[in-house]
Amino acid sequence: MALSWLPTIIFLLIFLFPALVESAIRHYNFTVVLKNTTKLCSSKSIVTINGKFPGPTLYAREDDNVNVRVINKVQYNVTIHWHGMRQMRTGWSDGPAYITQCPIQPGQSFLYNFILTGQRGTLLWHAHISWLRATIHGAIVIWPKKGVPYPFPKPYKEKLIILGEWWKADTEAVINQSMQTGLPPNISDSYTINGYPGPVPGCTSQGYTLHVEAGKTYLIRLVNAAVNDELFLKIAGHNLTIVEVDASYTKPFTTDTIFIGPGQTTNALLTTDLQTTGKYLIAVSPFMDTIVAVDNLTAIAFLRYEDTLAFPPPVLTTTPAINATSETSKFMDNLRSLNSKKYPAKVPLTVDHSLYLTIGVGINSWPTCVNGSKAVGDINNVSFVMPSTALLQAHYYNISGIFTNDFPGNLPVPFNYTGNFTGGISTSNGTRLYRLAFNSTVQVVLQGTGIIAPESHPIHLHGFNFFAIAKGLGNFDPKNDPKKFNLVDPVERNTISVPTGGWTAIRFRADNPGVWFLHCHLEVHTSWGLKMAFVVDNGKSPDESLLPPPSDLPKC
Ligand code: C2O
Repeated sequence: MALSWLPTIIFLLIFLFPALVESAIRHYNFTVVLKNTTKLCSSKSIVTINGKFPGPTLYAREDDNVNVRVINKVQYNVTIHWHGMRQMRTGWSDGPAYITQCPIQPGQSFLYNFILTGQRGTLLWHAHISWLRATIHGAIVIWPKKGVPYPFPKPYKEKLIILGEWWKADTEAVINQSMQTGLPPNISDSYTINGYPGPVPGCTSQGYTLHVEAGKTYLIRLVNAAVNDELFLKIAGHNLTIVEVDASYTKPFTTDTIFIGPGQTTNALLTTDLQTTGKYLIAVSPFMDTIVAVDNLTAIAFLRYEDTLAFPPPVLTTTPAINATSETSKFMDNLRSLNSKKYPAKVPLTVDHSLYLTIGVGINSWPTCVNGSKAVGDINNVSFVMPSTALLQAHYYNISGIFTNDFPGNLPVPFNYTGNFTGGISTSNGTRLYRLAFNSTVQVVLQGTGIIAPESHPIHLHGFNFFAIAKGLGNFDPKNDPKKFNLVDPVERNTISVPTGGWTAIRFRADNPGVWFLHCHLEVHTSWGLKMAFVVDNGKSPDESLLPPPSDLPKC
């Protein structure tokens, strides 16, 4: 008798108290498999998730608990990183191999488990070991909590555009050969737009089409999952209004060109014309304002209005010059945090740790390499050596001898970082971390150097968002440059371009205990050692402490 009331009670609980069911658990299965993809017009097999390229999109809502079981069915060790996810106290699920976990070995699996606290927007996931992210990547879409609107007009529809980079050769062979010879890796054969390359000589790819209706506003969620290149995107005859980057809302600004580095994401509103039909070119081209070789082919797709004739002549557009530095700085200068009442920019106003980190690529002599030397990447002249067991475990279990806490926060001997180098700067190797107390505030001036050639570096920090408070050309001036720091509404993100021959200053609060990787998101530079990590201690209370490791955490 009493039990017959049960359905009514459940009904009342669910519909009258929606808060009880608002945050859901979302389950995903990611199986790592080999796949031939005709999109890439070659018979070579690539490593994918669930046979898809790009991989499946992970859809969730702010505050959801996400569970992803990753089952490794290929011959490579694999890990997956949820790029830009804060991973509050769940560093075990962050994913960079040998930093937070040992890799998932062939035949093994691991359950990534984390909560999307206080985040909404577009991010990406990707493999985080060697160069497997070339083909193992996909988008993460986090909608606002139920009933919470976007802080911009509601779009009619949402569209994802994922940019990538494709080699005809096996990318693991490309990077292994480079590491053995000490020479730069071969450049890619094409950029991809939602998995379609093009145009590539000898390859007829049908390409991607963005289908739209007239007189509507679309939310474009753009992801740069390329391996080594910063990119421009333009759509002929249409402007884009930027409303969010790296899952943080921005003040809206309108542009005809998007600049996006690998690991970055951008949400933009696209309003279609009222009475138009036709086909418009979407062009994706690289940015490189120095002497480094990059794949200089423009990838194309089309925006197509419905009711368009079968074969209309497309409306074309020009791409920015490959070295269009002014275009990139204009774009970055326009990015500001929304900084509204609801979404305030919580910029740290005081600084406990002030770091000055030089980032660059140099040459070390290395007798076994082709020219007797090899390229090295470094931060403050330390080229990071990957350990053979995961740093987070070493930290949690207090295993000594895996890393040291003495990463230099400043260079002992300053030099003219962006000047012309004659002699060499010698680099040391080490697994050195910078230690931070829980909740301390950190300012990092990232100073590009010009040891071989100055280059723009998209620097990514795991575990935190930071505020990009200023940037400039040449060497950072500690006397005068702080006067131009924006502590009011600087853009909040997880990956930032440090300009060629210049610097960028960022601030963050170390409110997430664990071991957090900082590296250049040009994968070739990470391979060469342009990386380091922070270790953030637990706070006083249990809810300020790293959770215990999951029982299925892979072993090295
Ligand atoms: Cu998207 Cu450590 O990387």
